[in-house]
Amino acid sequence: MDSAEIRESFLKYFESKGSVRRPSSSLIPDDPSLLLTTAGMVQFKPVFLGVTDLGSTRATTCQKCVRTTDIDIIGTTGRHHSFFEMLGNFSFGDYFKSEACAWAYEYSVSVLGLDPDRLWYSIYEDDDEARAIWRDEVGVPAERIVRMGAKDNFWAAGPTGPCGPCSELYYDQGAGVGCGLDTCAPGCDCDRFLEYWNLVFMQFDRAEDGTLTPLPKQNIDTGMGLERMASILQGVTSNYETDILRGIMTKAEELTGITYGGGGRPDTSLRILTDHARAVTFMIADGILPSNEGRGYVLRRLLRRAVRHARLLGREEPVMSTLAEAVIERMGEAYPEIVEHRELIRGITDSEEQRFGATLRQGLAFLEREVAAAQEASSAVLDGRKAFALHDTYGFPVELTSEIVAEAGMTVDMDAFTAEMEAQRERGRAAVKDESWAVSGGVFSEIAAGIGGTDFVGYETDEADATVLAVVVDGVRVERAEAGSAAEVVLDTTPFYGEQGGQVGDTGTLSVAGAPVFEVAGTALPVPGLTVHVGTVADGGIAVGDTVQAAIDQPRRERIRRNHTATHVLHWALRRVLGDHVKQSGSLVAPERLRFDFTHFEALTAEQLAKVERLANTKIMEDHPVRAYETSLASAREAGVTALFGEKYGEFVRVLEVGAFSKELCGGTHVGRTTEMGLVKIVSEGGVGANLRRIEAVTSFDAYELVLAEEAVLAETAAALKSRPAEVAEKVVALQARLKTAEQAARSSAGPRFDRDHLKLVSAEGGYPLSYGRFLNDVPADVVREEADKLRGEDGAVVLASEADGRVLLLASGSPAAVAAGFDAGAVIREMAPLVGGRGGGKPAMAQGGGDDPAGIEAALEAARALLGAE
Ligand code: ALA
Repeated sequence: MDSAEIRESFLKYFESKGSVRRPSSSLIPDDPSLLLTTAGMVQFKPVFLGVTDLGSTRATTCQKCVRTTDIDIIGTTGRHHSFFEMLGNFSFGDYFKSEACAWAYEYSVSVLGLDPDRLWYSIYEDDDEARAIWRDEVGVPAERIVRMGAKDNFWAAGPTGPCGPCSELYYDQGAGVGCGLDTCAPGCDCDRFLEYWNLVFMQFDRAEDGTLTPLPKQNIDTGMGLERMASILQGVTSNYETDILRGIMTKAEELTGITYGGGGRPDTSLRILTDHARAVTFMIADGILPSNEGRGYVLRRLLRRAVRHARLLGREEPVMSTLAEAVIERMGEAYPEIVEHRELIRGITDSEEQRFGATLRQGLAFLEREVAAAQEASSAVLDGRKAFALHDTYGFPVELTSEIVAEAGMTVDMDAFTAEMEAQRERGRAAVKDESWAVSGGVFSEIAAGIGGTDFVGYETDEADATVLAVVVDGVRVERAEAGSAAEVVLDTTPFYGEQGGQVGDTGTLSVAGAPVFEVAGTALPVPGLTVHVGTVADGGIAVGDTVQAAIDQPRRERIRRNHTATHVLHWALRRVLGDHVKQSGSLVAPERLRFDFTHFEALTAEQLAKVERLANTKIMEDHPVRAYETSLASAREAGVTALFGEKYGEFVRVLEVGAFSKELCGGTHVGRTTEMGLVKIVSEGGVGANLRRIEAVTSFDAYELVLAEEAVLAETAAALKSRPAEVAEKVVALQARLKTAEQAARSSAGPRFDRDHLKLVSAEGGYPLSYGRFLNDVPADVVREEADKLRGEDGAVVLASEADGRVLLLASGSPAAVAAGFDAGAVIREMAPLVGGRGGGKPAMAQGGGDDPAGIEAALEAARALLGAE
């Protein structure tokens, strides 16, 4: 049976037992206590706990899972994986141990045809009930039932939640497989006794403090490893020889030129590439992006670990996107999401591999030096600060560093590493604090405690009558503030939006009988629900108890509203164009513009931007209604409302719907119909961190003004060029060509010019004269060569650098005498080229190189001088 047939046969068998077949859930669990979906039961946790009712009491699934707790083992055995498929059958207060055991046996022996003489059974140490069921009801030989402790036979998905004793089925692969020791038995670390099915008798709910409370009902949760069953049925002794994994392995062999099966470390590396490629592919397809925390970090670790192993096998070019392609080819039929997200998977793996590839070699060199230094000092511990430097500068996940130093028999001082990480976080926090709004903190908590919150009426109205409840000057509550004083005012009711969720606060005035008494320059919400008006007291002063008319700057609010709804429409359009991995990670909604930060792995192309803008404008012009309503967080989730990643919400939330296409949790102020936004224009797109992009846009009159301004520039340019706007581009191209020709002519007539300060004539170690330096102006390669010949002379050597069109040219040349005295042009260039971001080489008498980083020229010349031992 191939893997697809096993999958189908399992699900069919349990359907015949009354189970409802359910789809695999995402690798991102709907459960804050778990980072990743690690088992088939994860999606059923609320059902086991009695919180959710599925409408049926039996289920069966094939669940995609990712587990990285034993990542160090993965690759060293034939049966451990970071990604695997778990076939499961579940009972929610329905059948229990007897059926679970009997069916597992029947399916294994009668359906799959496993030889019963090769089967073994483990039970939890004191679970006599399970023992009796196996022996007396199922009828297996008593000596094949072994008792094991909690480590093996008490199962839980996490530190808290449903759990219970379990019983496992083992398949004996024969004495020829595994350790061969007399003590070898089920539970041995070797490959002989293959645990292929775990039956969990879910009976308890474990609390934070470890106490076990019986669940409302007794449940069954089982997990059979598809890869392990495939290896048994396909008659191989390693999962990597089964249909799906073998196919991916073949691709890894092709890419690295190494054949699997030779044993030792190359096999481990190939297994790691094969295994991690699947996890990476599936994680990205489910919307996980590499990052420095949470599940993004798990993905990054897997990717980087795989990349290192590809390099260990001698492969310098990228491998991961090609391996992912092999995964998609073999698994796309069963999991359409990986086909659907093919482009995203390619993009992320390529960009991450590039990013890491650039620092891997330097990081490894750094690590090698540190390991050598530690060994010199007879220490088996790598300084945690060095591990931190590797993490911070070279992007080495600390687990990768640990793994590498372990190969040299060393460990990392994790305490020191963690302390460094903490210190960095602290610095980050301090930086954020400095930017926070300067509203005096404590006094407002007191005010809120005394008067409760402010009644916000700004969704419905721009003006409201209100009573002044508190006035604060310099952080102190006062009864009254006089004209000219800076103050903060709290009202019982306000139409002013308190700055939050990216939307800036309103400005406006507080007046008494039509005369302004307070100019509101901005607002803040120092305590949830309490709006503070920040500004300056006007004529007449303001006092607690005054009745004021609070009026916002309505035209300004209009602009804010348009921009806020536009962020929702753009968010939707970005997801449509780029994919569902796009998630809002921050925003700024101001009157004159909007800013929207989102997760994505590469710069948007001009076409993508144009598409996003066009889609957004289409939706605007379709004139959709925009409406908001309050609901419970649970029902909003059920309705598929987009919530901000990592945001905490209360029990009741406000949902903002634009037409029927966009639904987001949002407390902001919005337009009534999309046409009010008029036009949206994206004005910029850029990166603001790894996998984080930012767009800025304007709407309505600001978009119109932008178009007018651009038109004016174009008209002016056309006038200056004495052409029509439509011909400007053509004209400029022609002018540039003429300019270039003229510049070239001027340059060749001016001849090469040295930076005199940098042209040095010194004697090198071997006693020959050495000239080295850089050209000040752009000089092409042939001129560099000519100059080198002149400067080198009969018995000297020369090392030159030039910058032309942003590229660096390097040249070293030595006379026969200099070469005889030890000058090696090839070695010089090999030393210099990496410093200007490039490569090069040649013979002792003559070598050339290039690079694209002119900033490194000085360092490269200095490196040459040092290498040649010149004074
Ligand atoms: N949930 C059980 C496991 O993962 C079946 O082993």
